[in-house]
Amino acid sequence: MDFKKEYSIRLVSKEFLNSDTCYLGFDCPDIADTAVPGQFVNISAGDVFLKRPFGIASTDKENGIFYIGVKVVGKGTSAISRFETGMTVDCLGPLGNGFDFEGYDNVILTGGGTGVFPINFAYETLTAAGKSVTVCEGFRNASQVILNKPSYVLTTDCGDCGIKGTVIAGLDTIDIAEPSKTLICCVGPIPMMKAVSLWASDKGMKCLVSMEQRMACGAGICLCCTVKVKDEGPEGFKNVRCCKDGPVFDSTEVVW
Ligand SMILES: Cc1cc2nc3c(=O)[nH]c(=O)nc-3n(C[C@H](O)[C@H](O)[C@H](O)COP(=O)(O)OP(=O)(O)OC[C@H]3O[C@@H](n4cnc5c(N)ncnc54)[C@H](O)[C@@H]3O)c2cc1C
Ligand code: FES
Repeated sequence: MDFKKEYSIRLVSKEFLNSDTCYLGFDCPDIADTAVPGQFVNISAGDVFLKRPFGIASTDKENGIFYIGVKVVGKGTSAISRFETGMTVDCLGPLGNGFDFEGYDNVILTGGGTGVFPINFAYETLTAAGKSVTVCEGFRNASQVILNKPSYVLTTDCGDCGIKGTVIAGLDTIDIAEPSKTLICCVGPIPMMKAVSLWASDKGMKCLVSMEQRMACGAGICLCCTVKVKDEGPEGFKNVRCCKDGPVFDSTEVVW
């Protein structure tokens, strides 16, 4: 393990984006300075056994702060949502391989649920670099919509906000001039990433997905976060580690 990646970090800001999701800012100049979109941190959840992984949602290099968004789904995320500003927690990061945008001037970012956090970081990074970026995000309903901007294509399953349907209905509205020169990056639930992967393949576009397997060590040691990827061996697939070999993969490599 690279011990330089282990930090004790101070929570400097916290706000609730809706009833079950909070946005936390941590003081850690090293992570703020070096993280790239798609990477994640593994954060201690107080007394709860094992750290929990979260995609980096934004960085403020000037002030040495990075941000994560946390949706409460269980005991770890519940404990993190009760953190108070000023307290310090243990953290490993930045971990994993981020999105490789190299060679693409046009990028479509698409996310659903908590996938919108890493998508936010990708959006900030790409727009700062002057790239052409289109964002399409999907949520269950209006009450779940977070970090949305007016320029984004928005979909909701029930149609109480934005386009009715999944992100595929939103992606279908985007005019793509040169599919082979356009990259699509997707973070969200598995069925969504699988559907986006098929959609991109039909259009002849490269698609990168960020897998969110359950994790423990977050550092490639425990092998509990495996993803099946295609392989030329007799089984036709092999297991790789989401935390160390991912979490970002070419969607055509993943055995869905
Ligand atoms: C690389 C990566 C990036 C992530 N980024 C974010 C993020 O930006 N924001 C965010 O809110 N969450 C994110 N997650 C998911 C987050 O880590 C889990 O929700 C969290 O670990 C659950 O901990 P818990 O103790 O609250 O839940 P537990 O008590 O452990 O489990 C509660 C429920 O959540 C489900 N669950 C646990 N882990 C996952 C997972 N990885 N994916 C889907 N369901 C899960 C369990 O199956 C169970 O139903 C990410 C996960 C990974 C691997
Ligand atoms: S979480 Fe331990 S190897 Fe990935």
